[in-house]
Amino acid sequence: MKFRLILSAIVILYILMNLHIIASLAALCSLYSHEWLRWPVMIIFIFLAANTFISFRRRTGKLSTLMYGLSGLYMGCFIYLFLYIVLSDLLVLLGIGKKGALTLCLILAAATIIYGICNARKVRITVYDLFTDRKLRQDYRLVLLSDLHVGAIGYLRNLRTVSDIISYMKADLICIAGDLYNDSSAAVALNDETLNLLKSFPSRFGTFLSVGNHDAGNIFSEMIDFSRKAGIKVLIDEAAVINDDFVLAGRMDSSPVGNTDRIKRISPAEFMDRIPHDRPLVVMDHNPANIREYGNDVMLLLSGHSHHGQIFPGNLITKMVYLLDYGFHHRDETTPDQIISSGCSTWGPPLRVGTDNEVVFINIHSAK
Ligand SMILES: [Fe+2]
Repeated sequence: MKFRLILSAIVILYILMNLHIIASLAALCSLYSHEWLRWPVMIIFIFLAANTFISFRRRTGKLSTLMYGLSGLYMGCFIYLFLYIVLSDLLVLLGIGKKGALTLCLILAAATIIYGICNARKVRITVYDLFTDRKLRQDYRLVLLSDLHVGAIGYLRNLRTVSDIISYMKADLICIAGDLYNDSSAAVALNDETLNLLKSFPSRFGTFLSVGNHDAGNIFSEMIDFSRKAGIKVLIDEAAVINDDFVLAGRMDSSPVGNTDRIKRISPAEFMDRIPHDRPLVVMDHNPANIREYGNDVMLLLSGHSHHGQIFPGNLITKMVYLLDYGFHHRDETTPDQIISSGCSTWGPPLRVGTDNEVVFINIHSAK
């Protein structure tokens, strides 16, 4: 009931914001004496706004893939159009002419959107050096990937870049901390090219995946089978011993989107009972908020999910919502070290503004 109320409020707000965008664009046509443009502009934006509502269904063909791509792109455009149009309203209140204020703000919106699209096409490298007080047989280089969102707009280009980076930098272990896939919309992306790219990740001890909230939906079993076919070891509330030296565990996501074949996340106590404790422990748990479940018996917690807000002002929101939303954190002696990645790709709008896609390399230095 509460969820339906929140959803209804979001839908109403979305419609009202779109009406304001459409009315402002139609007004601009009149201000430039292009009355004939009013209706085409209104029809195009009504279509784009309405298209968002059908974007989350399963994609099966080229047309539905195109519509899905358009809806993601419009989601980004919509946010910046609205914010800059509100800014133009404020400028008008300050006495600036509506034609000039609206024109300037629409140019700024277009510049921000173009920058965001270009920035989302890049994948940066982030390196952390972790000096642990645990004794290991050797130092390790871990790769942390999260939020590849296979099936989302632009995933293939970023997946290729990620593969190139890992091949060049070399690693002992690859940890994918959730959201490898993009819900049921990943259906069209489970093909040979994706499989070969995932298989191409080189490392000494293999690639491991923990399930994120978007690794779900009505093709959940297909996602798991596809991962295994690509040589990825899927850890659903289970652990693997790496090089007979430390334990890597993967948690089921705390709130997966849709059908996950009735696999539910077990309680923290059950999880801790299930995994070995005779070696240092690294845990992948997609949602960074779950740090509350772990004590300092965990050496390192790897997360993603927040996307660091993905597009400004989303990063201000994730800062408020999450205890920790990005980067490396050592809070106190009772909690594990935590590294939260902003993700390798995008969800929804194929834009990155104020945040970056990244591949994270973690050099774990053993106690001497
Ligand atoms: Fe994600």
